[in-house]
Order: sequence, then structure tokens, then C-alpha cells
Amino acid sequence: MDLDIVILAAGEGSRMKSKLPKVMNILGGKPMINHVIDTVKTLSPKSIYVVYGSGGDYVKKNLNSPDLIFIKQEKQLGTGHAVLTAASELSAKNTMILYGDVPLIRENTLRKLVENPSMLTLLLTHMDNPKGYGRIIRDADNDIKQIVEEKDASTKQRQIREVNTGILVAETKALKRWLPQIKNNNAQREFYLTDLTSLAVAQKVKVNYCVPESNNEILGINTKAELAMVERALQQRRASNLIDNGITLADPNRIDIRGNLTCESDVFIDINCIFEGKVHLASGVKIGAHSIIRETSIGNHSEILPFSHLENVRVGTNCQVGPYARLRPNTTLENNVKIGNFVEIKKSDIGTGSKINHLSYLGDAELGENVNVGAGTITCNYDGNRKHKTVIQNRAFIGSNSSLVAPVKIGEESVIGAGSTITKNTADAKLTLSRSKQKTITNWKKSKKTSNRK
Ligand code: UD1
Ligand code: MG
Repeated sequence: MDLDIVILAAGEGSRMKSKLPKVMNILGGKPMINHVIDTVKTLSPKSIYVVYGSGGDYVKKNLNSPDLIFIKQEKQLGTGHAVLTAASELSAKNTMILYGDVPLIRENTLRKLVENPSMLTLLLTHMDNPKGYGRIIRDADNDIKQIVEEKDASTKQRQIREVNTGILVAETKALKRWLPQIKNNNAQREFYLTDLTSLAVAQKVKVNYCVPESNNEILGINTKAELAMVERALQQRRASNLIDNGITLADPNRIDIRGNLTCESDVFIDINCIFEGKVHLASGVKIGAHSIIRETSIGNHSEILPFSHLENVRVGTNCQVGPYARLRPNTTLENNVKIGNFVEIKKSDIGTGSKINHLSYLGDAELGENVNVGAGTITCNYDGNRKHKTVIQNRAFIGSNSSLVAPVKIGEESVIGAGSTITKNTADAKLTLSRSKQKTITNWKKSKKTSNRK
């Protein structure tokens, strides 16, 4: 599209009471400005300029994307001044201006804004409570005449509920002509971008407008309370999208998606689950309450039971995980695997049909098919210096409370007696155990209980 984008992000955001620049505060799992950036990218603009300010080198460093052009506004003299700082760079036919602290704006709304080109098109809306917003003043013909900021508005003007969202598209040539004409003779001694409107009208330019689908889209974030409110609005939007796509949520108000969650058909998600990064749930997957799932894909009809924690895992089909399981990065479960309660697995491949049902730790392990790992088994994978691998071959059976000291290989169909400490490779299809023999002391007598002991 022959369109340049300017995102204003130079404001200090002191009301956030945060050391982070305002636009870098996290919303839905990423800095709030990234929502704006990702949305405008869908328009395929010519260039995206981010105007940043004091303390904003952090913004530049952390957004660090080759498709963004950063422009520093040394002093925050107002929104009009911020755009003026970028003006000499602009070269596309039209320019769209957005605010980095208005993150929920939707692609469809922005498309409407650029669809009917005019010299100046504003995104406006009606608010039940317009406090803080610039008010739209219309003339006798109902044409847009002027925008008056709250601080400059008369009592009567403050009654107006039609407000400026701040987002606009202008013809770049006209914009460059108007910007230097903006003055700061107002209550805040700032150069208001909104004065473009009266400048356009003075030159007999008709100011166009369109409205967002929902007022949620234009919510701005100035305080932590607003950040929390916008986070809820975003989560509701994400939950509704899932429901519209046929996903069953036990409660759409109790889910947090802090990344990109994709689901196939007949997925069920119970309450209070958190999804982070890229997560894919295949058909028929069930996620139990209070689970946290990050950068993970889960195969058809697998079930994650409550209070489980999965990070960077690939789960095959028909698996069962949890409750209270912890699967750490680089773990793969093939199909029909069963992981039970209080099992921790790290960087391991678990073969088809294998079971680790209770209280175990497997790290740097490779399990074949239909292996059975008894309760309390651990791989001793770390010698204090380096990590070592444990290989457990097909159909091996590890008795409860065994320690497998890596590097070590447990042979196919090998059986390990309960309580063993295994330090050497074991033979296929043989019983191996290492434990001291049980003995009974025959001449031992139980001492008599002395009375009145304290
Ligand atoms: C602005 C609009 C107001 C609109 C409201 C919607 C102006 C004068 N007013 O008011 O009509 O209803 O947004 O939310 O534009 N910024 C800079 N450099 C500056 C000043 C601001 O980059 O020198 C950035 C801020 O970081 C922010 C955005 O511009 O992202 C808006 O600035 P802000 O001071 O929040 O304007 P509002 O008073 O909210
Ligand atoms: Mg604001």
C-alpha cells in the first residue's frame, strides 16, 4: 500500500509509575506497542516510523526490528510536534498516524480508514464517558469543524460525546504543509496534532471520518489500572475468537492467552489456563484447569490434566499428562504416552506407549516404546559438571525408586529391581538389581517402653 505509518511513542507515561517506557509495558504477552506494529504490518505499508523519546533508547533496542524506522523526538512538545519530527522522512502518498498506547486497534478499522482516500480522515467514535478525549465540534451542516482538547474545552463543549481517537490518515503532501503551521497557543502549550482539522477546514478541505467497530479498539493506556482493563478486553476478544471457532471454554473470563493459540475442532479448555507463545492444540484435546502451556503442540485427543506445566514440548496423539506434571523444554512424547502426577521431564524423548506414572525425574533421556518407569525413578543426569544421557530401550521395566546414573543404557525388555542404583549398562531381557540383601536379626529384642518418659 502506498502508505507510511507513524506510531507515536515518545510520551513518558509517568502515570504508569514504571521504569519501563509506557509502550513497553506488557499486554497479552508482548509490549503494548507491538500490538500496534503487528496490526499495521497487515496493511503492508511502505514504511513504519516509530517516534520515541526520552528513556526511549530502550524502546529502540528492544523492538529492534529491521522493518521499523526509529525517530527520536528530543523534547515532548506535543503530538503535532512528534509527527513533525518524522515529517521529512515521509514519502508515501498517504500517512497514517497511530498511538503506541492504543493497542487494540483492529486491521478492519484501519482498512476502512484508508479505503476512501481524502486529504484528512479521522477515526472518531461516541463515548458514554468522553472524559480526557478531544471533542469533535461540528458546524451547522454537521461537517467536522474542529477538535477541542478536554483542557481547552468550554463546559458546553465538554458535554459533547463524539470524540477523537487520535488515529488518522492524511495525504502526505497536505500533512507536510499543515504540520509547521500548528501553534502551541493552548492550555497545555503543546503542538496539538488535532489542530490539523481546523487547518484543513480553513483551507476548505472537507474532513472525512469513520468509526471503529467497537470502542474497545480505541482504549488508551495511561495507568496500570487501564493496562489491567485493556488486558481483560484483549483476553475477552481472544476468548470470543476461540469460541466463534468452535472451541469450548469452561469460562471465557478465566483464560489468558499471552501469545498465539491455535486450536483444531472439539478442543476443551477448563478454567484458569495460561497459554504463552505459540501453542497448537489438535482435534479433541482437553486441557485441565490451572495448566500453563508454553510453545507447545499437543496431538489429537491428548489430555492434559489439571495443574500441569508444559514448556517447549511436543505431545503426540492420545497421550495423558498430569495432574501436576511438569514437562520442560525439548521434551517429546510420542503417541499413547502416559505421564502421571509429580513427574518432571526435561529434554527427553518418550517412545510410544511408555508410562511414567508417579513421582519421577527424567532428564536427557531417550525412552523406547512401551517402557514402564516405576514411581520415584530418577535419572542422575548431572555429575556436577556435565549432563549425560540415559537410554531406556523398548519394553524395559524400571522398578520403583531406582536411580539410573548416566551415562547408562537399560537394555530391551530389561527389568530393574526396585530400589536399584544402576551405574552400568544392563543386559536385554534380564533382571538387574543392586541392593543390599534384606536380613533379619534373629537375636534382636525390642526394648521395653519405659513409662513416664517425657
Ligand atoms: C490525544 C489527542 C486527543 C485524543 C486522545 C485519544 C492530541 C493533542 N490529543 O490526547 O484528541 O482524544 O489522544 O487517546 O493529540 N506523544 C509523543 N510526543 C509528544 C506527545 C505525545 O510521541 O510530544 C505520544 C504519546 O506517547 C502517546 C500519544 O502521542 O502515545 C498521545 O499523546 P497523549 O499525551 O497521551 O495525548 P492525549 O492527551 O491522550
Ligand atoms: Mg493518551
